[in-house]
Amino acid sequence: MASFLPRTAPRAFHSLRAATPRPTRFLQKPAAPLFRRFLATPAGERPRLLLGSTAPNFQAKTTHGDIDFHEFLGDKWGILFSHPADFTPVCTTELGAFAKLKDEFEKRGVKMIGLSANDLGSHEKWIEDINDISNTNLQFPIIADADRKIAFLYDMLDAQDLENIDEKGIAFTIRSVFIIDPAKKIRLTMMYPASCGRNTTEVLRVIDSLQTSDKKGIATPINWRVGDDVIVPPTVSTADAEKKFGEVREIRPYLRYTKI
Ligand code: BEZ
Repeated sequence: MASFLPRTAPRAFHSLRAATPRPTRFLQKPAAPLFRRFLATPAGERPRLLLGSTAPNFQAKTTHGDIDFHEFLGDKWGILFSHPADFTPVCTTELGAFAKLKDEFEKRGVKMIGLSANDLGSHEKWIEDINDISNTNLQFPIIADADRKIAFLYDMLDAQDLENIDEKGIAFTIRSVFIIDPAKKIRLTMMYPASCGRNTTEVLRVIDSLQTSDKKGIATPINWRVGDDVIVPPTVSTADAEKKFGEVREIRPYLRYTKI
C-alpha cells in the first residue's frame, strides 16, 4: 500500500537540518561498516517480526551494563523503543517523556529499555542532556547499538535507510516501539518516521488494552481508555458474556458492548 506521505517528512527534516547548525556531538561517527552489509540485504531477506512471534534474544552493552535481553525482561512485560542516533531533537523529547513515566510503566509491570545507534560514552552524555532538558532522571538502560545489529535484527530500518542512508549516517527510522509480553511474544509494534514524535499516552493506552484483554478476554474499541465499555469478542456468545460480565449492549449481532 502506498504510504500517505512517503518521503515528504524526511525531506522536510533534511532541509531543516541543513539550515540549523548542529553541535559537534551530533556529528558522530557515521554508521559502522557492518551496516554496509545491511545495505546489500534485499528487502525480501530482511527479518520480519510478526505479532505473536518470539522477540529475538540478543546480548548487548547498555548504560546499565551488559545484558541478555530475555534475562533482562524476566517474567515482566517489556517495552523496547529505539532511536537512530543520540542528540537527535525529536528523540531527546521522547526519552525525556518516557523517563518521566517510570512509575506508570512500573505500575503496569513493564520494564523499559531504550536503544540508540551510538556507543555508551555518547549515551551517557546524551542522558545528561535529556535529564537537563526535561528536568528528569532517566533510569532505564539504553542499549548501545552503534553497529545497528539489533536495529537490523528487529527490522527497525525502512526502505530508504537500506538504499539511501542520510549523508551524516543517521537513519530516518530506528524509531520503533515493541511491546513484549511475559511469554516474550511481540504483542504490538509501532514505527515512526523522524519527523513525528511518539505519544506516550498512546503507548500506555495500548499496554492497558493488551493487559485488560488478556485478563478479561475482551476487546477494546477505538480510543478506549481504562473504565470505558469494552467489546465482547465474536468468539464469545452473548449468553456466556452475560454470565461473565452482566449486561451486554447489542448494537449489531457482531458489535456488543459490556462493562468490566
Ligand atoms: C530526531 O530528531 O529524533 C531525528 C532526527 C533525524 C533523524 C532521525 C531522528
